[in-house]
Amino acid sequence: MAAPMLRCLLFFLGMFFFGTNASDEFSEELFIKPLQKGYVYSHFQFTTKWNASIHHQETFQHYHLFPKALGEVLLHYDVQELHLSQTQGLWHHRQWGYPIHDAPPGAELWVWFKPSVKDIDKTWTDLANAVSGLFCSSLNFLDSKNTVTPRWSFRPQGLAHQGYAYRSYFMRYGTLPREIVCTENLTPWRKLLPCDSNAGLSTLFNAFHFHDANYHSLGLHVRPICADSACMEEAIELSQSLSVVTDVVSTSNTGAPHWSLKSLFGNHLVSACPIASKSVIMVQTANSQEPLPYRLTPEPTSVEEVIRGDQKHSFAVYQVPSFTHSGRVLNVAGTYNDVSGLQEDGTPPPIHAHRYITGYGLSDGGISCLIHSSLPVNQSIIYLDILPWFTRVYFSSLEVSNNGHKVPFKVHYVPAKDRSRPHHLELSFMLWPHSTTRVSFTFTRAFLKWTEYPPDANHGFYISSAVITALLPSSFGYTSPPQESSQLSSIFSENSTSYLIRIHTESLLVSLPTPDFSMPYNVICLACTVLAIAFGSMHNLTTRRFIKEEAKAKRGLLTKVKSFFTRQKDATLSEQADAAESADQNDIKEKSKEKLEASNDKPKEGDQS
Ligand SMILES: *[C@@H]1O[C@H](CO)[C@@H](O)[C@H](O)[C@H]1NC(C)=O
Ligand SMILES: *[C@@H]1O[C@H](CO)[C@@H](O)[C@H](O)[C@H]1NC(C)=O
Ligand SMILES: *[C@@H]1O[C@H](CO)[C@@H](O)[C@H](O)[C@H]1NC(C)=O
Ligand SMILES: *[C@@H]1O[C@H](CO)[C@@H](O)[C@H](O)[C@H]1NC(C)=O
Repeated sequence: MAAPMLRCLLFFLGMFFFGTNASDEFSEELFIKPLQKGYVYSHFQFTTKWNASIHHQETFQHYHLFPKALGEVLLHYDVQELHLSQTQGLWHHRQWGYPIHDAPPGAELWVWFKPSVKDIDKTWTDLANAVSGLFCSSLNFLDSKNTVTPRWSFRPQGLAHQGYAYRSYFMRYGTLPREIVCTENLTPWRKLLPCDSNAGLSTLFNAFHFHDANYHSLGLHVRPICADSACMEEAIELSQSLSVVTDVVSTSNTGAPHWSLKSLFGNHLVSACPIASKSVIMVQTANSQEPLPYRLTPEPTSVEEVIRGDQKHSFAVYQVPSFTHSGRVLNVAGTYNDVSGLQEDGTPPPIHAHRYITGYGLSDGGISCLIHSSLPVNQSIIYLDILPWFTRVYFSSLEVSNNGHKVPFKVHYVPAKDRSRPHHLELSFMLWPHSTTRVSFTFTRAFLKWTEYPPDANHGFYISSAVITALLPSSFGYTSPPQESSQLSSIFSENSTSYLIRIHTESLLVSLPTPDFSMPYNVICLACTVLAIAFGSMHNLTTRRFIKEEAKAKRGLLTKVKSFFTRQKDATLSEQADAAESADQNDIKEKSKEKLEASNDKPKEGDQS
């Protein structure tokens, strides 16, 4: 009886250990880069690489480390690539350089569907709803009014056929600049990690510290990639990232920019995720040859130096398992010897931009975007701007100028349709060496129907960030890993000579002509008040009982008057009051007048008596 059961158990154990031959691996990395003026940029990178093809239906039947909830969404909506970011705060490129994944304030979703999808717009809406449920965000508000198909700005980031990648027919891009990112978005995102937050770098997640930071961004990217460098087989890569910029100077008690894992996240690191094949902390120590202004403790496992194009980057690398074995804790810290140079402005990255609203009043307005380039060569860029339909853009006013000279540009413009699609403006032009290029156009504001205003109508309406895409020849301020892999340690073996950047500018807030929504409220208040008063007295009159009053009632009134005056009266006047009570009822008034006078010149009378 026991033997078959044991065999059965062994069989299942065997299935578990040898039969499933799990073909995915997981790595966790934390990248720390101290920025100028006491800010510290921390980027958590969790990468799951699964040796399977995203195009095969059977792939999504057995899961190991890849999250099933996400796999089912990818399968059901025929997704080839999915890129989601949820961000709070604005990344300042000028001061902070380029982040690993650039993201606009709010939520951004862009997806490449498989060519088998029949109705892309419907699938996009359904997918947005599914993703919104998965991450507790309001992505379900991504409808045709804020979705476009960018023509040049976005290309598949992973493996794709040339014919497929060339046309962006299967791609959809949508943003929600108003979306607020909070703990309820962090929790479902964290649940997709194989170790959740029970072990490894994710134990450093501290919602309090993240939401207190100047910038934080959650990212999720799925794409097909090459399984190895020969690229004979496909793999699926899931990259989850969390970026935080913390102002250590203002959060520390000492006012010094010293940082440590404990000061950044409120905790030491006690373990590595046991199923991670790699668990690493990297600190970017220098962009170029400058000496390090701070001292790192403990000593890193190794120091890696990489030449990326014209720049040398060096990183201190900590292999987490070798620090946290046998119950020890790891608290990587940077201590500054000299804090004098910290308040200086550093060199800004080669390309950065600033976008703002022009004009005044509520009828006309405009948008200008200044793009600064400090490169020594001509640099071509692609500019994408998506404007809501209620800003009616004058296409004729579109101008790209550099120091007063008009710059020739190539344009793809899809005008808006009221209540159904946004303006989609894509420009491609050259940035001249060491110059500032201005893109500008004007618009007029449309009237909305009164039901189309949000509850806080006077807050204004958001316009999503513009996206600037360029392939830079220099890696100054650049931190992203190469295209082949999202793992940050793949930077060490990088070999390319051009660096893709995608900058998101500020999102804008415009106010539209807004009706006086307080007016109906005032009318309601006034009407209610009038009605209440009228109804009250009518009700009183109709429900009142009229009773003929007896003399007794008058007597009562008299007593009242008497008691009123007796309170003011002196003890010396008590006889007069007795007299008044006994007096004839007809001369009450006269009597009370007398009493009043009497009480007024009371001291005199008191003297006389
Ligand atoms: C995935 O495939 C590549 C190439 O075939 C191989 O080198 C790698 O070890 C595989 N990974 C896993 C987890 O099986
Ligand atoms: C940049 O392009 C302009 C024309 O668009 C040309 O006149 C200029 O010489 C170019 N500069 C460099 C450095 O290539
Ligand atoms: C770097 O590039 C050269 C040629 O451009 C190539 O031969 C070499 O294999 C590359 N190395 C790596 C690590 O990719
Ligand atoms: C009606 O009004 C009189 C005085 O104005 C008040 O004394 C009386 O209580 C009221 N009756 C009702 C039913 O409210």
